[in-house]
Amino acid sequence: MTEQQIKDTLATVKYPGFSRDIVSFGLVKEITLADQLVTINLQVQTTDPEVPEQIFKSCQQALAQLDDTLTYKVNVDVQAPAQASGSTQSAGAGGKSGIPGVKSIIAVASGKGGVGKSTTTANLAIALAKQGLKVGICDCDLYGPSIAHMFGADEQQPSANAQDQIIPIKAHGITLMSMGFLLSHDSPVIVRGPLATRYIQQFLRQVEWGELDVLLLDLPPGTGDIQLTIVQTVALDGSVIVTTPQEIALIDARKAIAMFSKVNVPILGLIENMSYFVCAHGEKYQIFGKGGGETEAKRLKIPFLAAIPIDPTTCEAGDFGTPIALADTNKSAPSEAFHRASKQLMEVMEKDCPQ
Ligand SMILES: Nc1ncnc2c1ncn2[C@@H]1O[C@H](COP(=O)(O)OP(=O)(O)O)[C@@H](O)[C@H]1O
Ligand SMILES: [Mg+2]
Repeated sequence: MTEQQIKDTLATVKYPGFSRDIVSFGLVKEITLADQLVTINLQVQTTDPEVPEQIFKSCQQALAQLDDTLTYKVNVDVQAPAQASGSTQSAGAGGKSGIPGVKSIIAVASGKGGVGKSTTTANLAIALAKQGLKVGICDCDLYGPSIAHMFGADEQQPSANAQDQIIPIKAHGITLMSMGFLLSHDSPVIVRGPLATRYIQQFLRQVEWGELDVLLLDLPPGTGDIQLTIVQTVALDGSVIVTTPQEIALIDARKAIAMFSKVNVPILGLIENMSYFVCAHGEKYQIFGKGGGETEAKRLKIPFLAAIPIDPTTCEAGDFGTPIALADTNKSAPSEAFHRASKQLMEVMEKDCPQ
């Protein structure tokens, strides 16, 4: 039996609620082999007692597949994060905390790609800013960054300040950071694993975000590395889940909701995007089925923020770098829907995350 074999086995154990394994996330601190005894020391930062318990059980199950003449001892050292989620004051070195100057950090997530997370983030940001809030977006989708383009700012390049922090880009009144500013249009992103983790930490911690009421995080799809890195790096005040009405998207939305619940991040609401289509004659078509998002929100007892229509002007506006929410709401139904979503969100935030 080698240490590598044990590591490979432990690498089949996922962090509860996430698709990332405990080895790649650095939870395995030490493996020692002495005589017939294998000792595995794990360290996990969490306030949820179920997390170490589940990790312990899953490790036992995985190790049961190995040489049964050896004895395996798994020690899980549980440390409280320097600060629990839901607060925005700074924490001590190394701990999870808010971002200085930023009042609320909200993740916009979905399980599935292509449901309109980035479109929703961009439009929510504009709509919240129109209500007088100072808003930023951190585009955490390193592999498919859309925010720079959606704000018509993909030619811009951030510079650094005297403290070596990245100075974010401002477009349509929103403070932005995105991988899209650091890459040329067609260059593939080849950051993986630890490098991706470092980029995300840098985007959150080493950007001069300044004074913001809300920082929206546009998450990549799924429940993987980036999501786990984010929840371990900053104290999220809440999350907004974006889904489309059909069951196949809702299945993944449920996974995202379960992931945030696991790490005690409140779900501030669900937005159903591509909800319906209104044709030129004013008739309404529910292309992907009726009311899936709203029913799901009721079932899970989370606020339903809005149903956003599918509309070519929304897509064009995104491609053109001028999010549809910039349009007058009396002239544009999709813009009106995003403004409604932002007002609902503000109401929930006032209740859930009082400043
Ligand atoms: N409500 C909508 N109406 C029309 N097109 C939309 C709508 N929402 C998103 N889109 C388009 O769908 C595509 C995927 O949206 P995007 O926001 O990039 O999704 P995600 O970030 O979830 O991958 C984009 O081309 C976007 O313009
Ligand atoms: Mg996106």
